[in-house]
Amino acid sequence: MSDKTANAMWGGRFAAGPDAIMEAINASIGFDQRMASQDIAGSRAHAAMLGATGILDDKDVEAIREGLLTVLSEIEGGTFAFSTALEDIHMNVEARLKDLIGEPAGRLHTGRSRNDQVATDFKLWVRDQFDAAEGALLSLIAALLDQAEAGADWVMPGFTHLQTAQPVTWGHHMMAYVEMFGRDLSRVRDARSRMNESPLGAAALAGTSFPIDRQMTAGALGFDRPSANSLDAVSDRDFALEFLSTASICAMHLSRFAEELVIWSSAQFRFVTLSDRFSTGSSIMPQKKNPDAAELIRAKVGRIYGANTALMMVMKGLPLAYSKDMQEDKEQVFDAADNWMLALAAMDGMVRDMTANRESLAAAAGSGFSTATDLADWLVRVLGLPFRDAHHITGSLVALAETEGCDLPDLSLDQMKTAHEGITEGVFDVLTVENSVASRTSYGGTAPTQVRAQVARWREVIA
Ligand code: ARG
Repeated sequence: MSDKTANAMWGGRFAAGPDAIMEAINASIGFDQRMASQDIAGSRAHAAMLGATGILDDKDVEAIREGLLTVLSEIEGGTFAFSTALEDIHMNVEARLKDLIGEPAGRLHTGRSRNDQVATDFKLWVRDQFDAAEGALLSLIAALLDQAEAGADWVMPGFTHLQTAQPVTWGHHMMAYVEMFGRDLSRVRDARSRMNESPLGAAALAGTSFPIDRQMTAGALGFDRPSANSLDAVSDRDFALEFLSTASICAMHLSRFAEELVIWSSAQFRFVTLSDRFSTGSSIMPQKKNPDAAELIRAKVGRIYGANTALMMVMKGLPLAYSKDMQEDKEQVFDAADNWMLALAAMDGMVRDMTANRESLAAAAGSGFSTATDLADWLVRVLGLPFRDAHHITGSLVALAETEGCDLPDLSLDQMKTAHEGITEGVFDVLTVENSVASRTSYGGTAPTQVRAQVARWREVIA
């Protein structure tokens, strides 16, 4: 038996305090102190409501209010002594409140439980992160729009299988990421609106017999409404899972873009130059300039997926309502949030600073017979050939150019005619990459006119 005294908050039926190992596995204060301001905001709203409903008298409510402000300033000022014996942020705050104001502190927990308290605190914390993610995504999208607008008509190779496919524009490529981050933005907003219900007042699991006003606390904390089922309210972590899955999908987009930047900044590609501010050097090879930020962004997705998977596993077998397993939700979310925000900020900085190398992009755009499809389309449009025949004829011309060691526009008209005698001089118009991209005016296509239209549309979307 431990000679420690029983827990002051819940130890009434305990003769002895917890074993050191019990305390170690049980405590969450090491990490949930990050929710201190949310915890105090929740307690302030709860106390004000207890006063307004006459459950507590005004004198006690005022003492609690002032005491909580003192606790908050101690935590913010770094003078608060967090205690592992007091398990978590909720009991640390309440115990300190008791030191400061005495008996009224013990009345704060009327009509409330740590189960609805932790759900409320955590929701407030996650909601702030959704808001931060929204701001970061808007900024990143704005940075991409600037890149897209500047290079709306810069030609570059478009790839499939990382093989040159058809010429596209730099602006079009940037706008592809705007679409991805735009969907992330919409997922953030959607998840945030769905999660914005207040668990406070669900109490332990069944609600309470005190005449509390859940509308009032919900409103004070910026929630749209109180949650409608107390069992669900204390055991729901969907909001954390939606946060992690939204972060996961966005991190996957960041990672794909980061991978392109790693490839594009290589000496072999030279499509982009990353700024010194977002690159690092090698301690042995003086010539090196490494895209470390892009590589780390590419890697961050791993831990964010990991957090998502971990919390899915934690939650999957839990019976209603609260179980202590759920305390394992926070570290995953904290780590994923920190790294998601960092990755977004780093990508934002890299995109704002990077320079697209217009000449390298253009030189690569015409290589690899990238206008072969334009040639086939010309045979269909001008000579009226079926596309399959046009494809075959073009293929034979690509083979000819390959043996000649030249590109398609370098073949002579006579050489062209060996594949089909109807081919005329006009074919050379469609073989330039500029004409190729300019011709792709279908909605959402790579033509500079389309890219500029999409830039304008997105500027309004994010305004
Ligand atoms: N530290 C706990 C958590 O994060 C708070 C809730 C504890 N509730 C309880 N009944 N033990 O989940």
